[in-house]
Amino acid sequence: MSAAAALAYTPEVAKATAPIFERMSRVVPAVEWPFHAPLIHAINSLKRERNAVVLAHNYQTPEIFHGVADIVGDSLALARKAATADADVIVMAGVHFMAETAKLLNPGKIVLMPDMSAGCSLADSITGADIRLLRQRYPGVPVVTYVNTSADVKAESDICCTSGNAVQVVESLGVDRVLFLPDEYLAKYVATQTKVGIIAWKGHCEVHERFTGDQLREYRARFDGLTIIAHPECPPDVLAASDFVGSTAQMIDYVGDHRPARVLMVTECSMSDNVATGLPDVEFIRPCNLCPHMKRITLSNILESLQTMEPRVEIDPAVADRARVAVERMIAVGR
Ligand code: 13P
Ligand code: SF4
Repeated sequence: MSAAAALAYTPEVAKATAPIFERMSRVVPAVEWPFHAPLIHAINSLKRERNAVVLAHNYQTPEIFHGVADIVGDSLALARKAATADADVIVMAGVHFMAETAKLLNPGKIVLMPDMSAGCSLADSITGADIRLLRQRYPGVPVVTYVNTSADVKAESDICCTSGNAVQVVESLGVDRVLFLPDEYLAKYVATQTKVGIIAWKGHCEVHERFTGDQLREYRARFDGLTIIAHPECPPDVLAASDFVGSTAQMIDYVGDHRPARVLMVTECSMSDNVATGLPDVEFIRPCNLCPHMKRITLSNILESLQTMEPRVEIDPAVADRARVAVERMIAVGR
């Protein structure tokens, strides 16, 4: 029996975790709590013992997002906050490229990735060798890569970006055109927001590419007064049918600031749950597209990685030194 399976929902655990359940009771059924609470309690105790922090992306399930995360946010916030994390150990409740970014920015710290196979269809769509070929084809054109890429790809890039700062990063270079890789739809969106010429790649996010403009029009017809906000990894017809486009953090801020009576967030579906906990006056309409990679991270494997201090993310120092420059350049753009 695993250490996680041996944990029990004792009166002590129930009392210690009651305030945490309160935060997520609108989205986590009470019947599930006795399963989550012992794991949450054990993780939070072990974090203190190990001087560890858990970084969680906005797509994590509510029990991770509200139960054990110390830092939550979009990819940009996680990269920025990883750079200043005051801990010996970072546990990434996200996907592999996020853990690599955290390791690049914290070479001396232990970075744990609870499931090493939590990948990303965008990161898988391009290699360092592809970028070297593109540089031969477009000599002198700077390479901007989305953070949703491997360290190998970042090492071949001039600068990284996220969906939250892509336009700012492209414009910071002071050039007429850039290679913008690998997300084709984010590239197309950025092209609508800047005069800089954008040369794109054919990578897609397997979660966001499934939404369609027709689907959104059907939702509008069914739900009066619906506000639709979308992530720029969606296809152009989806963005055209939306009221606002932004990174996951920008979408959350939009809902918090505008308090629409009804909203549809066109992105991974756990995000609506995470936001809904704090906004009882907003009705969330949820077409549910799950990211299978994000969902590989669970309370059980977070606990196990803190117990065993494995698996650890390591990056070849020669690759890391070059990849770090691209990430640090991105972070400097926002300062
Ligand atoms: P952001 O959180 O940066 O908007 O990215 C979305 C995403 O799909 C991350 O994998
Ligand atoms: Fe990658 Fe899309 Fe999953 Fe984000 S949601 S990790 S971009 S596959």
